[in-house]
Amino acid sequence: MGKLKVGIIGVGGIAKGAHIPGYLRLKDKVEIVALCDIIPERAQKKAAELEIKHVFTDYNQMLEMDEIDIISVCTPNYAHAPATIAALNAGKHVICEKPMARNAKEAAEMVKAYKKSGKILTVGYQWRFDPDIQALKSLIDNGEFGEIYFAKAIATRRRGIPAWGDFLNLEKQGGGPLVDIGTHALDLTLYLMGNPQPETVLGSSYTKIADKGCLNNFRDYDPKDYQVEDAAFGYIKMKNGATLSLETSWAMNIMDDEIFGTEVYGSLSGARFHCGKPLTVVSEAHERININQILRRDKIGSNYHAEIEHFVDCILEGKEPLVKPEEALNVMKIQDAIYASQKTKAAITIE
Ligand SMILES: NC(=O)c1ccc[n+]([C@@H]2O[C@H](COP(=O)([O-])OP(=O)(O)OC[C@H]3O[C@@H](n4cnc5c(N)ncnc54)[C@H](O)[C@@H]3O)[C@@H](O)[C@H]2O)c1
Repeated sequence: MGKLKVGIIGVGGIAKGAHIPGYLRLKDKVEIVALCDIIPERAQKKAAELEIKHVFTDYNQMLEMDEIDIISVCTPNYAHAPATIAALNAGKHVICEKPMARNAKEAAEMVKAYKKSGKILTVGYQWRFDPDIQALKSLIDNGEFGEIYFAKAIATRRRGIPAWGDFLNLEKQGGGPLVDIGTHALDLTLYLMGNPQPETVLGSSYTKIADKGCLNNFRDYDPKDYQVEDAAFGYIKMKNGATLSLETSWAMNIMDDEIFGTEVYGSLSGARFHCGKPLTVVSEAHERININQILRRDKIGSNYHAEIEHFVDCILEGKEPLVKPEEALNVMKIQDAIYASQKTKAAITIE
């Protein structure tokens, strides 16, 4: 079998920073053959740099290339569903960036197309591949946490508004920090909890700071363009009785500059993973409480590299990907329910 051929839709930050370098590392397995961006110079510039022959502005034309096996969808959220569905219908394997789509309705259409296609679909929740998370997941799967009945998903920034591209545009993105960074923490926490089915969601979302114009660690922006929430919170009860609490913000008057992480609390042990700090596990053994700090080992590459390599290996070896489309759809259902709960001032039941 020859090398798998890759086409990339959307040649912006995540394509250039994660997907393209991820595929370039795997030169013996894959080759990037086509780039597509609605801004032609973006695709042209990268194609010239990497000697990629085919450049498109319309992904439907790119999908007519029979030789393409793999599509990376790296566009803003509004194009995730249509581009992914078109790629699956054209017989391609797809990795779509997070969040899966703008809402659960679009994500459900993607799952439908995936099931019909017989191809692989996965979503860019690269944090699952973090070595600390994998170590923690092994402990949990070995039963060392007992029953996990409470967990926290945290993705908060004091001032960290991604003011480039379409991130402030509600129609194009579907939301603010909840769908941008909260989605990662939520997925990670659900993964560690064993992906329980969500049942009831009470949520709040606020726009109190960013729409007025505030200091921003990333770049200046015009507050008139700000259309999404700047903070969101959720309290999610699972069908198995467990509870998950979620906090996320791009702008909030919090003490830490930024926290990204997850905490899981079980009947036998608890753990805290906050990015940039050692993973900490607490458990009761030998009649005393032990707190162990597990330092990062085997950091073989970035989580993005591990994600892309895993996706390619799933195609080559016929394996199921770690991030399953149905799990990403559940994340979307919780996000939708948080926004719906804010509007209705009531708890939302997830069917
Ligand atoms: N996994 C992660 O941690 C992570 C990090 C950053 C961004 N992302 C996700 O990646 C996606 C893109 O984010 P980004 O930061 O790269 O944005 P970006 O604005 O830098 O790049 C998006 C690119 O897509 C192009 N585009 C828009 N519509 C298109 C279409 N219909 N067809 C082809 N190209 C199109 C734009 O012109 C732009 O070049 C978002 O969904 C974001 O949530 C994920």
